[in-house]
This record gives sequence, structure tokens and C-alpha cells, in this order.
Amino acid sequence: MNTYFNPVRTFQGFGCLDLISSLAASVAMPGKRILLLVWDESVLACPGIRDLKNLGKSCVISRVFSASNPELEQLWQVYEETRGMAVGLVIAVGGGSVLDIGKSLCCLYGKRLSSEEDLRNMIAAKAYDTPACRWIGVPTTAGTGSEVTCWATIWDSQNGIKYSVDNSENYAFASVVDPQLAATMPLGLAVSSALDALAHAAESYWAKTTNTVSRGLALDAIRTIIEYIDQLLVDGSSQKAHDQMAKGSLLAGLAFSNTRTTACHSISYPLTMRHHIPHGVAVGLLLGPVFELNLPAIQDVSPLLHAFDVERPEQVGQRVTAILKRAGHPVALREWGITEEELPALAAHGIAKGRADNNPVELTEEVIHNILKTIF
Ligand SMILES: [Fe+2]
Repeated sequence: MNTYFNPVRTFQGFGCLDLISSLAASVAMPGKRILLLVWDESVLACPGIRDLKNLGKSCVISRVFSASNPELEQLWQVYEETRGMAVGLVIAVGGGSVLDIGKSLCCLYGKRLSSEEDLRNMIAAKAYDTPACRWIGVPTTAGTGSEVTCWATIWDSQNGIKYSVDNSENYAFASVVDPQLAATMPLGLAVSSALDALAHAAESYWAKTTNTVSRGLALDAIRTIIEYIDQLLVDGSSQKAHDQMAKGSLLAGLAFSNTRTTACHSISYPLTMRHHIPHGVAVGLLLGPVFELNLPAIQDVSPLLHAFDVERPEQVGQRVTAILKRAGHPVALREWGITEEELPALAAHGIAKGRADNNPVELTEEVIHNILKTIF
């Protein structure tokens, strides 16, 4: 069925950070505190976030969370540290990992969890109902779209498992996307984040679960990112480029919030978990070969090619590879330390439920192995 729903109030553009304290005041629960989860302490000095102090000193507690892929163990630590603090609102300021930890906490408060094992069991069984509190997402990278989705990725690297804390009642109260926060990102991170957003948009366009609204948002996201990424590569401090990356990422997030992702994300997970290829780089490397695989099944492919500013499908991979090279990222799996003998095992772990089966062309281990060989 062709439906679309997203309840997050979105604010995007330079200066919208100033709205944080009024948004927080409008949703904060009386007698409860605000947990400010930040990537880096320097964020606490930003205008807007600094103003949260006006809500009362004892009302706001802050914690720094700086891991790049949120692990179950780390979620447990933050939960254990804050569960007795009567948190009634979480404001997560950071990349996807901070936002994913922040939104997951809303599903955990109020639950009786006595160990990390309890937490693992609860997440594996998806045994969470109405969240105990709301959250506000303030991304400092332009890519994950986590501020407008209702799921969070939590890694359990020790056991080789990736969990999704997935709760349709856990959309953010608001997302505040101010490009000034992303403007100090290193170029390599800015580009890998942009490629993540590009993959969200493209996968949303061709997903089995796609819909009219997501497809429109996806095309706009791809056009925006492709049009301005060269400007970002030439001048990493360009305000215009960062504003457009933030806009493209938000549009891509809104698109895939209703469709989820497909083969690029599915195949990428073991590349990130086992070989530490940054998420955006991994999905970016897969974008070209998956586009070519899906080509016969993509409805109305011309607007998608136009959005990528190319004429032929094979040029999508070439375009992404050129972007990665200019940002200084290796563009072949072997350059990331992967051997040819490891490809079959990576292919076997590349079928993620909810992602692989959302791809318009069937993914088998053999198909994935062939894709991996093309980027080896
Ligand atoms: Fe992603």
C-alpha cells in the first residue's frame, strides 16, 4: 500500500540550534530531569545548548558518549549510570551513535534490567512497549538520518550480532539539524556521512517497501548531495556545502524512515563489524554494484540516474569511487586488509533480515560474493 508517516517536527538550517531550550521546555516532564547526551564536551558551549542551563541547573545532566559504533555494553553503561536520575527527556547531540544510544535509553528507562544479559535478552526479544520518555535529536554529522527514524542500531561485536532497537512509538519529539555543528567535521567523516545518506536515499527509492512520498524525498536528497559534494571536497569549510549536506541527509532520512534500507546496508554490516570499514564508506562502495544488480527491477530509473547526474548505471559506482578517492578513503576491499579467502564468509554474513529481503532483486550468498568480488 502506498502510505507514508513521520511525526517528527523537523528544524533545519543555520541558527535553528537556538530553538533547543524552548523545544525542551515544551516537552520536559514536571519534576523530571533532562539528560543531555553529547559527542564531545565542546558541544556544551554552543549557543542554544548553553541556554538549556536557563531551565534550572539541577534539571539538566550531561554525559559524554564518544564511541563510533554503539555497543550493547556501552548502552548498558549509560543506562546503569542514569537510570536512577529521573530522566524525563533525552537530548542527544552527536553522530548516529549518540542518537541511537539516546533513543534506545527512552525504551529502557522504567524497565527492570539487572544485568547486561537482561538488556541483551530484552533487545533480542524486542520486548519494549511505550517509551518512558521522549527524545530530541541534534545531529552533528550529516548522514545517518537517525533523528527522523524510530529505530537504533546497537552492535554486539563480541557475539558478532547487530541488533535493531525498533519501536514505532519512539520517534523523536523533534529533530534540530543545524549545519554549524557539522561544519567542524574532518573531511573524510563528512564525505562518508554524505555517502551513507546517498545510500539511504537510493535504497529507499528501489526498496520493495517504497512509496510515492519516499521516492520524491529520495530524488531530492540525491540531487542535493550530488550537486554540492564537489564543493565540500574543494572547500571543507564551505557553509553552503555543509548546509546542503545537512538538508540532503535529512531528506534521505525522511525517505528511508518509511522504507528501511536494502542490499547496500545488508552487505555492509560484516564489512564494518569484522573489518572496521566506516559505515558510510562501506555502503558507498556497494552503491554502484547494487544499482547495477537492481537495475531490471527499479521502476522509473531515469529520474534516479538524473539525480546522480549520470547517463548510465555503471557511472554511479564510478562517481562514488571518485568521491571516496578525493576524500582519501581506500576504494577496494583489499586496501582495507580483506583477503580474497575471506569473501565467502563475508557473503554468508551479508544477508540481514529486514534489509536483504527488502531488496527488489533476490540476494543470495552467491550474488553477494559476486558483488564483493567487483569491489575487491
Ligand atoms: Fe546507514
